[in-house]
Amino acid sequence: MRANKGLAGLIAGDTAISKVDVSTSSLWYRGYDINELCEKTSFLEVAFLLLCEKLPNLKEFQEFEAFERAHRDIPDSLYELFKTMPSYSHPMDLLNQSVSILGSFDEKNTLGSNSKEENLRKAMRLLAKMPTVVANSYRLSQGLTPVKPNKSLSYSENFLSMITGTETKDPLSVKTFDTSMILYAEHGYNASTFSARVTAATLSDLYSAVSTAIGSLKGPLHGGANEQVMYMLKEIESVERAKDYTLKKINRKEKIMGFGHRLYRTGDSRTAVMKKLGKALATKLNIHIWHDISDIMEATMIEEKNIYPNLDFPAASAYYLLGIPIELYTPIFAASRITGWAAHIIEQHNDNRLIRPSCDYIGPNARTVEPISKR
Ligand SMILES: CC(C)(COP(=O)(O)OP(=O)(O)OC[C@H]1O[C@@H](n2cnc3c(N)ncnc32)[C@H](O)[C@@H]1OP(=O)(O)O)[C@@H](O)C(=O)NCCC(=O)NCCS
Repeated sequence: MRANKGLAGLIAGDTAISKVDVSTSSLWYRGYDINELCEKTSFLEVAFLLLCEKLPNLKEFQEFEAFERAHRDIPDSLYELFKTMPSYSHPMDLLNQSVSILGSFDEKNTLGSNSKEENLRKAMRLLAKMPTVVANSYRLSQGLTPVKPNKSLSYSENFLSMITGTETKDPLSVKTFDTSMILYAEHGYNASTFSARVTAATLSDLYSAVSTAIGSLKGPLHGGANEQVMYMLKEIESVERAKDYTLKKINRKEKIMGFGHRLYRTGDSRTAVMKKLGKALATKLNIHIWHDISDIMEATMIEEKNIYPNLDFPAASAYYLLGIPIELYTPIFAASRITGWAAHIIEQHNDNRLIRPSCDYIGPNARTVEPISKR
């Protein structure tokens, strides 16, 4: 049996974590509609849901949040490392290295420590520490002063404050950011999650599997699309140029970042709520240019190609209005997706078999090795 190119259409396994319902263009985390979760819960509640298989009650949430607040600090040696990294280092690479290093600093992370309890502990440790890494690896590599985590702030207030360097408690900003974290948290067997499962299936540890996933997420066909969207909107620069730019790309058969999806063909279920919050921010700040350009691009893409925006498209302009450096868009995605990755790693370790497909050989037929002097 041969899979299609890119494994398109192949059902590669089971999961109880999320359901992408293509027929209704909807997304469900453990049976809850993503839009209802955005409306009624916070990212940390969703993190608990993904990791612990149920929404937390008040006591469970307080314990979970207390753990998260208490584990935000990272080792001093990471701050030292970030200072020495060149300013052109990509924050996704810094994040990848940091996750490996955090694994090395975890004395319980011995080979074979893959029980559900241990994986949960490691996942919660990364959930708490990744924002500190994302914000401060960038700050220090840019010669800025680090902003240490503030335990008195909520998860999203603290993350945004470390990134921007200014304490941020504005409810709309925090809600927009927190909602993006809910929307980015989980999405079935996407490329980075599948990579994580492949690594976990060798019985490697959670930190190694998350590192693998970060490498996959970095690519512009996957998580890297969100930063590419913002570079593109800035390149277009004016509303007048938006339609022409889009048409030229279509005619040259070039991909437009932030559009299309392997599974959704009639729109990504996560875009509406992100777009609504981004537009509310734009109205509050009276900065409409990015949404005006985006609306024209969206209408043109649907009219010409029947291809819809994915979450990365509205997330990019929302992040820009929040004052987030563009290089951090994909690392922020990773800091959210750690929840989905970890849930899948736990699921894989719980019912494991090595993931190892076959391939057809299409190289030369059998040949004889000539001695080097005769080649
Ligand atoms: C997400 C993505 C990789 C899915 O890829 P896929 O399922 O392999 O689909 P394909 O790349 O084969 O695209 C199918 C067709 O739609 C077109 N298409 C898909 N996404 C497109 C885009 N963003 N811009 C222009 N055309 C696009 C392809 O050119 C192709 O057209 P063709 O049949 O005339 O050759 C793809 O849509 C893409 O590259 N999008 C841009 C990157 C992005 O936003 N990634 C984030 C995903 S959440």
